[in-house]
Amino acid sequence: MLKLPFRPPPAIVALILQCAAFAGVLFITQLFDIKLPAIVFASICGLMAALLSYFAKLARWWLIIQCLFTPAVVTALALKVQPNYFLVAFVIMLLVFWNTFRTQVPLYLSSVKVWQALERFLPQARPGQGFAFVDIGSGLGGVLTHLAQIRPDGVYHGVESAPLPFLWSWLRIRLSGYHHCRVQWGDLWGCELSDYDVVFAYLSPAPMERLWQKAKTEMKPGAIFISSTFTVPGQLPLETVKIDDLHQSTLLIWRM
Ligand SMILES: C[S@@+](CC[C@H](N)C(=O)[O-])C[C@H]1O[C@@H](n2cnc3c(N)ncnc32)[C@H](O)[C@@H]1O
Repeated sequence: MLKLPFRPPPAIVALILQCAAFAGVLFITQLFDIKLPAIVFASICGLMAALLSYFAKLARWWLIIQCLFTPAVVTALALKVQPNYFLVAFVIMLLVFWNTFRTQVPLYLSSVKVWQALERFLPQARPGQGFAFVDIGSGLGGVLTHLAQIRPDGVYHGVESAPLPFLWSWLRIRLSGYHHCRVQWGDLWGCELSDYDVVFAYLSPAPMERLWQKAKTEMKPGAIFISSTFTVPGQLPLETVKIDDLHQSTLLIWRM
C-alpha cells in the first residue's frame, strides 16, 4: 500500500475521494452506456465518496458530508440559485472558520453550564490578590464575559484566530464594559501561557498533544489547565467533571 510521508488535512482527502468517486461513476456509466437522471448520478457519487471515506478512515461526520455533497450541488444548480448568494455564504464561512482547514479546530460554543462549572476552578478570592485566566481559541467570548461578570477580581484574556468570532467577542467585551477582559486576534501557539493561573481550551483532538507539551513547558507550577471534552492522549487528568448539557461535555482538569 502507498504510504505518504505526511497525511494531508481531512478536507483535502475528502476532496480527492469526492473526485475519485465522480470519476469512477462517470467511467462506469460511460463504459456501459447507462443514462441516469442527474440527481441519481449525484446520489451514487455521494454514496461512493462516503464509502471511500469510510475506508480512508475519515471521521464519521465526513461520511455524511461526502454523501450529501454531490446531490446538494446538483440540487442547487437545478434551483438556479443566484451565484451571489454562494459568494456571500462563502465569505461568511471563510470569516468564521478561517484556518479550520489547517487547524482542524472549528467554531462551536461551550454551553452556559460549562461556563458555570468553570467558576469552581478559578483561584479563591483574596483581598488585594488577583489572578489571570486565558481562553485559547476564545470563539465568541462567552466564557470570558461570563467569568468576568461573576469574578471581577480576575483578568480574562482570549486569543482567537478567526476574524468574525474575534470581532464579535471584541465588540461583546467592549459593549459590556469589562475593563479586566480583552481578546486578541492571533494564534494560540504564540500565546505565552506562563502569564496565567488558569488556561482553558475547547479545541479538538487534533492539537491536544502539542498543546500539552506547550502547557508543560510554559505554565507555572500549580496553575490549572482545563480542556473541555478533548483529552490529552496518555495523560490522566486530576479531575473530570461531567456537564449535563446538550453535548454532554466533560471538563478535564490538570494541575501543573
Ligand atoms: C471549539 S471553539 C471554542 C470557543 C470558545 N472557547 C468556547 O468555549 O465557546 C474553538 C475556537 O478556537 C479557534 N481556534 C482554532 N485554532 C486556533 C488557533 N491556532 N489560534 C487561535 N484560535 C484558534 C477557532 O476559530 C474557534 O473559534
